Amino acid sequence: MTSIAISTSGLTRDFPSVRAVDDLALEVPAGIVFGFLGPNGSGKTTTVRILLGLVEPSAGSATVLGHDIVNEADAVRAASGALMEQAGLYERLTAEENLLFFGRAAGMRSADIAPRVRELLGPLDLYERRGELVGTWSRGMKQRLAVARALIHRPRMLFLDEPTAGLDPIAAAELRDDLEKLVREDGVTVFINTHHLAEAERLCDLVGVIRRGRLIAFGHPDEVRGRVGKRRLEVVGAGISNELVAEIDALSHVQSAVLDKGRLRADLTQAARIPDIVRLLVDRGVDIEEVRRGSESLEEAFLALLEGADEAGLEIAQEDPDAR
Ligand SMILES: Nc1ncnc2c1ncn2[C@@H]1O[C@H](COP(=O)(O)OP(=O)(O)OP(=O)(O)O)[C@@H](O)[C@H]1O
Ligand SMILES: [Mg+2]
Repeated sequence: MTSIAISTSGLTRDFPSVRAVDDLALEVPAGIVFGFLGPNGSGKTTTVRILLGLVEPSAGSATVLGHDIVNEADAVRAASGALMEQAGLYERLTAEENLLFFGRAAGMRSADIAPRVRELLGPLDLYERRGELVGTWSRGMKQRLAVARALIHRPRMLFLDEPTAGLDPIAAAELRDDLEKLVREDGVTVFINTHHLAEAERLCDLVGVIRRGRLIAFGHPDEVRGRVGKRRLEVVGAGISNELVAEIDALSHVQSAVLDKGRLRADLTQAARIPDIVRLLVDRGVDIEEVRRGSESLEEAFLALLEGADEAGLEIAQEDPDAR
């Protein structure tokens, strides 16, 4: 039996002008990396703040590692590490002093902290630099240190709120690699907020998509992408006629095909075979100059999911796994 790390039911939070979290029902199995995906203002941070007992829910309930988030908030916080939107480091202390401080604050003995500092900073390539003032560090280094800080007391639950926000693409990729190394240890459960679908795909075993406080999709990243993830084909060449485009548009695995400034642009289902379509074009006498293919970018798929949520009636995938 898989145990459940996080369970929420009807979880709701109203602010004066907005319902930030709306009837959220979520179950996150223990020991996995869960990605909570949503655009700005969708309720990700508020959800984590509720789970950590920093904000009270207006309605509904939740448990983290079996502890009720309202009545047992202290137990939740003791068992959790969190990296919120602010890194929360002391800039005038060294990296090591920061970790000592936070380790002590979490109730660790100093003698246990030193080996833990080495264990965490080693893989992050920061151990040799542990004596430097954090204020002199780059944002990427600080963010890596903030992850170490969140893990210092070996929490069984780790919350990461947009850990790569504000990092350049290289620093972000490095941090993702580091997270991968760190969070796979000890069966820690990770709840990571992000609006970056590629990041979720890289790190997460399971994702939930939140939009205006409501969960609109839940599943493996591939599944979530597959629900909307179209593949796209673009062909540049001479002799692409409207009739030919209409013929392609009618193929069963083609969702839509249009002629745009002489080029064919088609959205395909996952099952479509691009070589077959190219062959058809060649057979019909098209003089092909360029074929551009590729899955629709993950970002696009994510946006489509968010935009289409209303019309497509995409409710919670958990409850309706056959909905396509
Ligand atoms: N303390 C608060 N008081 C009033 N409104 C709030 C408060 N905290 C959050 N909100 C509102 O709740 C909604 C959700 O905000 P939240 O910060 O949870 O979103 P988010 O998904 O984390 O966004 P981002 O990606 O920008 O971090 C927003 O409309 C926000 O303005
Ligand atoms: Mg946020």
